[in-house]
Amino acid sequence: MKTDALIVAAGSGTRCESEVPKQYLPLAGRTIIEQSLNAFLAHPQIENVQLVVSEAHQEFYTPIFDQYEICAPVMGGETRSESVKAGLQAVQKQGATHVLIHDAARPFVSSGLITRVISSLEFEQCVTPVLSCVDTIKKGGEYVEATLDRTLLKRVQTPQGFHLETLMNAYKNCKCVTDEAQVMEQAGVSVKMIEGDENLFKITTYGDYKRAKAMYEKTRTKIGQGFDVHRLISGEGVTLGGVLIPCAHRLKGHSDADVVLHALVDAVLGAIGKDDIGVHFPPSDPQWKNADSSLFVRKAVEWMEEEGYSLQNADVTIICETPKIGPYREAMKARIAALLNVDICDVNIKATTTEQLGFTGRGEGIAAQAIVSVRG
Ligand code: CTP
Ligand code: MG
Repeated sequence: MKTDALIVAAGSGTRCESEVPKQYLPLAGRTIIEQSLNAFLAHPQIENVQLVVSEAHQEFYTPIFDQYEICAPVMGGETRSESVKAGLQAVQKQGATHVLIHDAARPFVSSGLITRVISSLEFEQCVTPVLSCVDTIKKGGEYVEATLDRTLLKRVQTPQGFHLETLMNAYKNCKCVTDEAQVMEQAGVSVKMIEGDENLFKITTYGDYKRAKAMYEKTRTKIGQGFDVHRLISGEGVTLGGVLIPCAHRLKGHSDADVVLHALVDAVLGAIGKDDIGVHFPPSDPQWKNADSSLFVRKAVEWMEEEGYSLQNADVTIICETPKIGPYREAMKARIAALLNVDICDVNIKATTTEQLGFTGRGEGIAAQAIVSVRG
């Protein structure tokens, strides 16, 4: 059994009325079509993913395909059926025995559902996910003509699974269809129905798109971690977490060398996928000489907020023999909470020694680790 996925994305998205065709609208940092594509690429039982696109959408699909190692896209046709037929020929050439056909406009396809469709294909020629109708169903135009028996009706979703040769043969004599299971029905092949997924709705209108975005945003939580070390030299105090601790040392660095704030900056940058502190505030740049590191934190938080995230909590570990952190812990928490725009209870500071082992144990430097979580 060699199973390929065929994702049809050649429609014009008329009902969505968006400037960019709906399958190329952004969703959770990628496009809608990529959400579908990635679900199949990540599935261990899918060998190849074939996309069908419209020639008219070249400016949208080219930058996407350049990022993935997949076969060249096939050009679709006027109707969904024509697009599917064009794609099936490509899939057949790649030697597939089975195919899962999916609408690009259904980005919430889960790995579990793909597995269930493939498992059913071991015993069936055709499998489709369906949902029961929970609402009462009426037939009619302006006035109701009849109330239908909803227990006999199902709502059909994709991915639908097929034995490839059976589907290609069935397609030879088929009339107009809106899904490929219908092609099998017309050829007298049994179509197995399995339980679909309410989240797998098709983005048809702009309202559907807004609903899809809201679904992602609800669960958009990310974490980031940071680590930093600075050397201790003799001086009149170290600045940690934005708080000056008077002692016989200071931390050596181009800026104020506040390891705690540097680790936090890297954690925030990590959570939003924006490289690291050295990229944005290089020590080679004279403008950061003796800089107050709270500037770096503020900038990282600003970028995080621009991406639509807010910080949930931060947890810091300071690793040193001296100075003692305990007496300054609350002041540090307050300073960090203010810089991160969170309540003081959302910041935690821990301190540990390394039992006099290593560079921190010998008092040659101070290290700090930070972890943050952000929500969009
Ligand atoms: N599709 C396709 N080729 C077509 C028509 C549709 O590949 N000629 C694809 C769409 O890109 C979509 C899926 O089939 O992923 C389901 O179709 P639909 O939701 O109707 O999308 P559109 O046809 O693009 O939208 P509309 O009908 O509103 O124009
Ligand atoms: Mg359509």
